[in-house]
Amino acid sequence: MRPFSTVIAFSAVALHATNTHAIPPQAVFISSAADSYSGIPDVKDAVNPICIPFYGLRDAIMGGLFQGRCNLNAKAAIRISFHDAGPFSLASQAAGLPNSGADGSIIVYPEELTRDLNNGLQTIAGLLAPLPDQFNVSPGDVVHLAGTLGLLACPGGPSTTVFVGRPPPRNIAPDGFLPNSAHSIEFLTARFADMGFSEREMVTLVGVHSIGKQMFIDPTKINATFDTTPDVLDTRFYTETRDGKVTPHTILLDSDVGFATQPPTAKHWESFIGNQTLWAIDYAAAHEKLSVLGLDPETVAGLIDCSEILPLPIDITKLLVPGPVEGGEEPMVDPVKLEAVTRRYRSIWLA
Ligand SMILES: *[C@@H]1O[C@H](CO)[C@@H](O)[C@H](O)[C@H]1NC(C)=O
Ligand SMILES: *[C@@H]1O[C@H](CO)[C@@H](O)[C@H](O)[C@H]1NC(C)=O
Repeated sequence: MRPFSTVIAFSAVALHATNTHAIPPQAVFISSAADSYSGIPDVKDAVNPICIPFYGLRDAIMGGLFQGRCNLNAKAAIRISFHDAGPFSLASQAAGLPNSGADGSIIVYPEELTRDLNNGLQTIAGLLAPLPDQFNVSPGDVVHLAGTLGLLACPGGPSTTVFVGRPPPRNIAPDGFLPNSAHSIEFLTARFADMGFSEREMVTLVGVHSIGKQMFIDPTKINATFDTTPDVLDTRFYTETRDGKVTPHTILLDSDVGFATQPPTAKHWESFIGNQTLWAIDYAAAHEKLSVLGLDPETVAGLIDCSEILPLPIDITKLLVPGPVEGGEEPMVDPVKLEAVTRRYRSIWLA
């Protein structure tokens, strides 16, 4: 494996082993090829033939929709992957009731997009909706690949396993199950448990608020973000929420403040502060679980791992410079270094 100067894969072996196949062997010997190495696997080096259509789908999403960056579509893709799977309920499953899961129903049934909690997802849903037919893959595979690619478009986001082969959704997701920031910590903990997530996994998953913004919760602060670095998927969100830091352009969600300060969840919250590597590893595992939530065990057993299509994640811990000393700020991502890494490792998708 080639050494990567500024970009490394988190848990490269566990999560991402197939990616090394995509490096053309001659790159090791021809220095100009080595210099232009982008960390983006090419379909001509595909390992599993089943994964071939997913290279084109990857480029349609990462290039066509995200332009290789943490833009609004990339952020919305992460959000829609949660809103697709999140209404899943173990209790409904036990009772044999209609259920939700990581099935892509949110881009199949327009009615889901009329629900208040899904407000703002209409654009990304409309952009993803034609892709299943275009690439002859299932809606669930499109939504959950988009979520995984959104994480990789946002610097700091980890690589997660790409599973493909989800069947079409069986039904519209039942209404009323998606958790929201107005719920109490007790309610949210129970709702996440009913999805199959632990308290720690819940606290881990909300870390993506780091790149989020609000449009509908506080109408006086439209576009306010949840931390001061909304284009980087960093753990500053955990720090600022715990510290109660609010600026004219940021807001804190009651639920996040509750997680950060109440005993059952505060210890998990605290563990991520200043520990990007820990969060990225934990988040990748929780997101992977989300990406197959509610699928039948036989379906999950039959899914194919197409992680070979993924580019390298951008490790922001290699791009830090000291923050302003006044106020004891944490280190910041150097925008110049970040741009250089983005140009190299997201090259083919940039506008
Ligand atoms: C919010 O952000 C969007 C996208 O950048 C922009 O088009 C819109 O004008 C902003 N709205 C407000 C109220 O700032
Ligand atoms: C991050 O967390 C891991 C696991 O708890 C720990 O081993 C490591 O020292 C932490 N790193 C930092 C920078 O705190």
